[in-house]
Amino acid sequence: MPSLKSYNSFGLDVSCSQLARIKKNSDLSSFLNLDSNASFILGGGSNILLLNDLNKVVLKNEIKGKDIVKETAKHIFVRVGGGENWHNFVKWCIQRGYGGVENLSLIPGSVGASPMQNIGAYGVEIKDVFHSLEAIDLKTGRAKNFSKSSCQFGYRTSVFKTSLKGKYFISNVTFKLSKSPEFNLGYGAILNELDRLKVTKPSLKTVSKAIINIRNSKLPDPKLIGNAGSFFKNPIVSSKKCNQLLANFPNMPAYSNVPYRKKLSAGWLIQQTGWKGKAHKGAACYKNHALILINNKNAKGTDILELAEKIQKSVIDKFGVELSPEVNLIS
Ligand code: EPU
Repeated sequence: MPSLKSYNSFGLDVSCSQLARIKKNSDLSSFLNLDSNASFILGGGSNILLLNDLNKVVLKNEIKGKDIVKETAKHIFVRVGGGENWHNFVKWCIQRGYGGVENLSLIPGSVGASPMQNIGAYGVEIKDVFHSLEAIDLKTGRAKNFSKSSCQFGYRTSVFKTSLKGKYFISNVTFKLSKSPEFNLGYGAILNELDRLKVTKPSLKTVSKAIINIRNSKLPDPKLIGNAGSFFKNPIVSSKKCNQLLANFPNMPAYSNVPYRKKLSAGWLIQQTGWKGKAHKGAACYKNHALILINNKNAKGTDILELAEKIQKSVIDKFGVELSPEVNLIS
C-alpha cells in the first residue's frame, strides 16, 4: 500500500490502495466512472487532513507546463498545468514581469488546487487573476472549460468544493496577468515590511520578498513542521452579533465584508480561549499563529481533528461563534 506521508503537508503517514500519477489527461482513462467514493484527487496536499488509510485510488495531478496563450497591450494570458507547484509559478511570473500573483507568494500547494478553494493572502485572491480552467469530467473523461463565473468563487471556496466536489480533475488553469503591474499594498504589514527593507519604489520582486518575509515570520514551514496553513476560515457574522461581541471585547478585530456582515479573526478568537501554543496528543496549536494547527509529534490525523473540535467548542463557549474548517477533511 503506497504511503502518502510525503504528499501531505501535515506529514501524516497514511496509505492508499493505489497512487496514480496523472501526467496528461489521457492517463485518467483507466479511472473513469468509478464509484463516487473510490477515488481521491490529490494536488499539492497542502490543504488536506487525512484522517485514516484511504481505501481509494489517489489521482495525483502531475500535469506540467506553462504556455502563453494570448497577449494584449495590457495583459498576458498564461495556461498552467494543474500539477505545477504554485510558488514556482509565482516566481516564473515575477522573473518575466507579469503582475497579479506576487501577493500570493510562498503559498504551498499546486496550481490545480488553487481555484478549488480560491486561495488568497494579503488582499488578493486567485479570482482576481483567474481567466478560465479546463477540467476533466471523471465520469465521461470529457474536458470542460469553466469560466470565472461558472467557478462560483467565494471566500476560500468554489463550485469544486461544493456541488462539483470530487467530480472534476482540474488539468490546467489560465491566468490573466498584468504587463504593467498595479501593486496591492493595502494590507498593513506589507508597507511596514517594504519600509523595513528600505524599498521606496515597489517592484514585483520587492513586494514578493516582503510577502515572503511576513509569511516566514509567522507561518511554519511545512517542510520542518507539518501544517496546512489556516486550519479554519475566518468566521463571517451579522453586524448585530459583531456589535454584541464588541461591547464585551472592544479590542476584537472585525472587518467589513458583505453588507450587514462582518468578518472576524479566527486567530484572535482562538488566542483568547488560551489554546495558542497548547498541545493535544500529537497535535498542537502553533505558538506564533493560533489559526494554524501543527503535527507536533507523530500526530495522527484524528489527533489534529480532536484538537480542532476542542478549539471549536472553546470558541463557541466563549464567543458563541462557530468556526468551520478551511482544510478539507479526508476519510
Ligand atoms: N491574530 C491573533 N492571534 C493569532 C493570529 C492572528 O490575534 O495568533 C489576529 C491579529 O489581530 C491579526 C489578525 O488576527 O492582525 C489577522 O491575522 P493574519 O494577518 O495572520 O491573517 P489571518 O486572518 O489569520 C488570513 C488567511 C491566511 C493569509 C492571511 C494574510 C484565512 C483563513 N487565512 O489569515 O491564509 O495568509 O490572512 O492575508 O483567510 C491560509 O488560507 O492557509 C492562509 C494562511
